Amino acid sequence: MLKPNTFTMALSSSLSYYYYYYYYYYYYVCISFLLCFVTSAQSYNNVTLGSSLVAGDISSSWVSPSNDFAFGFQEIESGSFLLAIWFNRIPEKTITWSANRDHPVPRGSKVKLTTDRSLILIDTSGHEIWRAKLPAGSRSRRVTLFSAAMLDTGNFVLLDRASAVLWQSFDEPTDTLLSGQTLKQGSRLIASFSKMNNSNGRFSFDLGFDGTLALYTTDFPLFNTLNSNYETFNDQGLGYQVLFSQSGILHLVDSTGKVLADVFPNEVLHEQVLYQRVILEYDGVLRHYVYPKSTSGSGGWTIKSFTPDNICTAVIQQTGSGVCGFNSYCKLGDDKRPHCICPPSYVLLDQNNDMGGCYQNFPTQSCKQGSQDKNQFDFKVLQDVDWPLSDYEHFQDVTVEWCREVCLTDCFCAVAIFREGGDCWKKKLPLSNGKNDTSVDRTAFIKIRINGRFNHVN
Ligand SMILES: *[C@@H]1O[C@H](CO)[C@@H](O)[C@H](O)[C@H]1NC(C)=O
Ligand SMILES: *[C@@H]1O[C@H](CO)[C@@H](O)[C@H](O)[C@H]1NC(C)=O
Repeated sequence: MLKPNTFTMALSSSLSYYYYYYYYYYYYVCISFLLCFVTSAQSYNNVTLGSSLVAGDISSSWVSPSNDFAFGFQEIESGSFLLAIWFNRIPEKTITWSANRDHPVPRGSKVKLTTDRSLILIDTSGHEIWRAKLPAGSRSRRVTLFSAAMLDTGNFVLLDRASAVLWQSFDEPTDTLLSGQTLKQGSRLIASFSKMNNSNGRFSFDLGFDGTLALYTTDFPLFNTLNSNYETFNDQGLGYQVLFSQSGILHLVDSTGKVLADVFPNEVLHEQVLYQRVILEYDGVLRHYVYPKSTSGSGGWTIKSFTPDNICTAVIQQTGSGVCGFNSYCKLGDDKRPHCICPPSYVLLDQNNDMGGCYQNFPTQSCKQGSQDKNQFDFKVLQDVDWPLSDYEHFQDVTVEWCREVCLTDCFCAVAIFREGGDCWKKKLPLSNGKNDTSVDRTAFIKIRINGRFNHVN
């Protein structure tokens, strides 16, 4: 129960006394009751009042008794730290929770366990960046923080003197659920902004107070307001909580424990798994990852299940860009992940974020009366590409030649879409909900300036 580790060794000797006291106490309980497995499974290393960790201090973290999880600072880019919980025994050190994803802190920032101010994160200039919110308590029953502990489940808890839980990281998930964790009514996972940026992003997995469980796009940058849902797991709205079991099943239950919906079909783990997690990733896909126990060294994270099957066709927003950024289109790769692609003569706004959208890399067509600018334009043809909801005119029973010409002569027209049978749509910028899929069955004509590009002179 008390594996020596850097953390326990750092404890004062008077505290060790308490440890051994509890150890023998539990040992006694084990003999007395059959509950001994439960009891020992809940063993923990106490973090005492006044303890603190410093960002950038290499050996500085609070680990669980088994060493599976750690709480502390992780450097996400040079000189920028998250207060986080991570899988501590694998080389990836995968983060499962963080306190300050929108406000990374510099080296030297501190997290501190205080009597009067709870667990607080302060940056180098002494500003409070985050604190764990304790229950209010009452006159008759004051809430007083006594200790903290990193549990082997991946849950970090704050306890009172009687070891009752005052606050736990499991109640405030970021983008990940661990087995044994539940998602309660009124809580949600929010995806990261991008592959490289951990900030709150554009998608949410939400169990509403009305009991509806669904995946939503957010009104980014107001990531807490939900825009439209792209997958609903129950319609009747009786959902009470989402459970993630040890056997790898993620399902929604009602208040009596009856299963209303499985989030992933046919789950149940058969292989030997070291770790598992469910994460809503930056591309809007909810994925169940497992870390197989392999005899041949490190297994690494592999995908067990994911939903929706095709994120490119699942998401369609009345307002907002869709899965990919504005003016790009989404294509599901062989890896089943979405790839966001800029049309010809369009380029990424942010080279490091392919979901950030594209801009037209040439001067727009002149609308001035009598201008011959239209002669400078032509089309690039993309099969099975469309931007639903970006059209401002629709014609029927026309030819493809007519469709091209009507877009070419219209300075507002950025793209013409033609469907066999004579439908023609004019599209305006910015284009949204772009996708490339066999189900599209349309041809996109991207209007481009023949002698291309801007001559960048600032
Ligand atoms: C991450 O994305 C957010 C939201 O767009 C942005 O405000 C922040 O500056 C980004 N962080 C980094 C390190 O690029
Ligand atoms: C779009 O997808 C279809 C089918 O997957 C493919 O035949 C077509 O070439 C794609 N178009 C582009 C522009 O990639």
